[in-house]
Amino acid sequence: MSRTRLVAGNWKMNKTPQETEAYIRAFLPRLDLGRGIEILLIPPFPSLERAAASLGSAEVLLGAQDLHYEARGAYTGAVSAEMLRGSGCQFVLVGHSERRHVFGDTDEVVCRKLTAALEGNLHAILCVGETLEQRTAGDTSSVLNRQLESALAERAVSDVGLSIAYEPVWAIGTGETATPDQAQEAVAEIRGWLADAFGPSVAEATRVLYGGSVKPENVKELIEQPDIDGGLVGGSSLDPETFARIVEGAMP
Ligand code: PGA
Repeated sequence: MSRTRLVAGNWKMNKTPQETEAYIRAFLPRLDLGRGIEILLIPPFPSLERAAASLGSAEVLLGAQDLHYEARGAYTGAVSAEMLRGSGCQFVLVGHSERRHVFGDTDEVVCRKLTAALEGNLHAILCVGETLEQRTAGDTSSVLNRQLESALAERAVSDVGLSIAYEPVWAIGTGETATPDQAQEAVAEIRGWLADAFGPSVAEATRVLYGGSVKPENVKELIEQPDIDGGLVGGSSLDPETFARIVEGAMP
């Protein structure tokens, strides 16, 4: 399998620029870089530039938690793909469940943001996942299909420069993790959707991550599933020592 594993730490609304610098100073020496894994930090917007400066030439990637779909203009509070690139980002999350559920990003908005990210030369991590209610009602597949379809269906194969994160909403920040079997089943389904939409080679090349209460104790059994290529980690990425243990546990 040629997909390089990716472990991403989504800090959400945590860490000032000063705290970001202290984190990175503690985090880098704990890493065994160059062992076939990519590591991505996703701080809040005001901490991005400090993160980029603190990372220096270390092979740790930098991403943002969201972007706006317009390039510039009268959109108070919003930031564009170009601004993120200028702040040192290579990656951006799109469609995180907190954006969908707390901030009201619709499928249409997610699609527009994804387009803006890819056209702005950012690697997008498209987040999809069902709520507990939807899972209980047996709607997991249809929710995932709808979210993928609405975000990606219009894209041409050649511009699929992205990763997908399967993040069941009921497992985010709850301490409740999907079992490895549940996660594998959903991630395999996502890969099946990619194969149908873009063909087997795109499906085979696209990274699909799992997110939702990933911790040092469960990362190994999740990442050992054949279709899971990494983790999107929230709460457990906030402590540099804990996150470094997750990275270690996810090494091939
Ligand atoms: P969590 O968050 O690890 O705190 O569950 C995951 C995420 O929201 O990406």
